[in-house]
Amino acid sequence: MRKPIIAGNWKMFKTRDEALQFVYNVNMKVPSNKLVESVICAQSPLLRDLVKRQGDNLRIGAQTMHYLDSGAYTGEVSAPLLEDIGVEYVVLGHSERRAYYNETDESVNKKIHQAFKYGLNPILCVGESLEVREANETVEFVKAQVVNALQGLGNTQIKELVIAYEPIWAIGTGKTATSEMANDTIKAIRNIVAALYDNETAEAMRIQYGGSVKPANIKELLSMSDIDGALVGGASLDANSFLELVNAAVK
Ligand code: 13P
Repeated sequence: MRKPIIAGNWKMFKTRDEALQFVYNVNMKVPSNKLVESVICAQSPLLRDLVKRQGDNLRIGAQTMHYLDSGAYTGEVSAPLLEDIGVEYVVLGHSERRAYYNETDESVNKKIHQAFKYGLNPILCVGESLEVREANETVEFVKAQVVNALQGLGNTQIKELVIAYEPIWAIGTGKTATSEMANDTIKAIRNIVAALYDNETAEAMRIQYGGSVKPANIKELLSMSDIDGALVGGASLDANSFLELVNAAVK
């Protein structure tokens, strides 16, 4: 049995006051961590405050991270610092990072290794553009992303990894992939991992869907055989909406 994981990706939203208000509103209401993992991924300057105020059932994640320990990389965030301040998750390879900040499969691979080195749980994002989807090349495209990102990782790490399948055309557009579409691609990802590792490892690994997830569609997405949670942008910004999403994941 895979424990569902719902992660809010706040992207470049929320002031400190707004972020802390959110945490006060949800802390006591988030379901037990034994039933669902509830994570908020926020802008770097908010992370320490959020960690300090997170309730027992809420976890805090970063949205990006460098693959080196330290160095002359102005504006970057290091894994040792994230570990130091108590962050537990890190989103890696988000399509926005790939599109605007030159994040590549190769750098994402290095970042996943670095995250594990510092005890951070990586959420690896993969997903195709509309052109790729329309050319019927989704599975090959996502396969290349997965194979390249997982280079050199061991079975134990794969079991701890979370993959977020986020079709780029469904992000922030209101267009959700149908639950069948999402499940088919997620199943294909699990088969790719089974071929690279083994069935047991692939069955243990959690794969989320992301792209216009909201309270109105989460139940149907989570009812599918291979969808283990969601990575949510817009609908994670409001406390009540976030609570509806995490509650929907309680079986
Ligand atoms: P939306 O839920 O706003 O479509 O964003 C999805 C996403 O990019 C989460 O990482």
